[in-house]
Amino acid sequence: MKRVITYGTFDLLHYGHINLLRRVKAMGDYLIVGLSTDEFNWNEKHKKCYFDYEKRKQLLEAVRYVDLVIREENWNQKRNDMHKYHADVFAIGDDWEGKFDFLKEEGCEVVYLPRTPEISTTQIKKDLNR
Ligand code: CTP
Repeated sequence: MKRVITYGTFDLLHYGHINLLRRVKAMGDYLIVGLSTDEFNWNEKHKKCYFDYEKRKQLLEAVRYVDLVIREENWNQKRNDMHKYHADVFAIGDDWEGKFDFLKEEGCEVVYLPRTPEISTTQIKKDLNR
């Protein structure tokens, strides 16, 4: 069984996220999502989520492409996660192009997928505040 892993915040789940999850799942048989915790988002990514971790997790777990949601609590856990979850592929949107190439050293494939144009959590928040 080919296992794929991805990471992100997935706040205000939108069609760009679903597009990403569909393509990532198609690369294997089992998809693990490392979901950034509220603390990690706030302290490291300087993002305040609209939906808290448990609600974001609930939404992701309802997506047919997602098999397992795990906590992303820091920048350094990925190397360890690749082994812990036996990931064959690490895949993420190309806003992160080149940033996780070091994971190839852990024996997995690293793939950056083109983002879906013209949609993001940031954009939704901006539009709603207009
Ligand atoms: N993603 C995508 N296409 C989009 C938006 C996001 O493919 N239009 C992907 C990202 O590249 C990442 C995953 O979805 O692999 C989760 O991204 P996240 O940062 O949670 O979503 P954004 O909408 O980009 O959020 P923000 O605006 O807060 O950065």
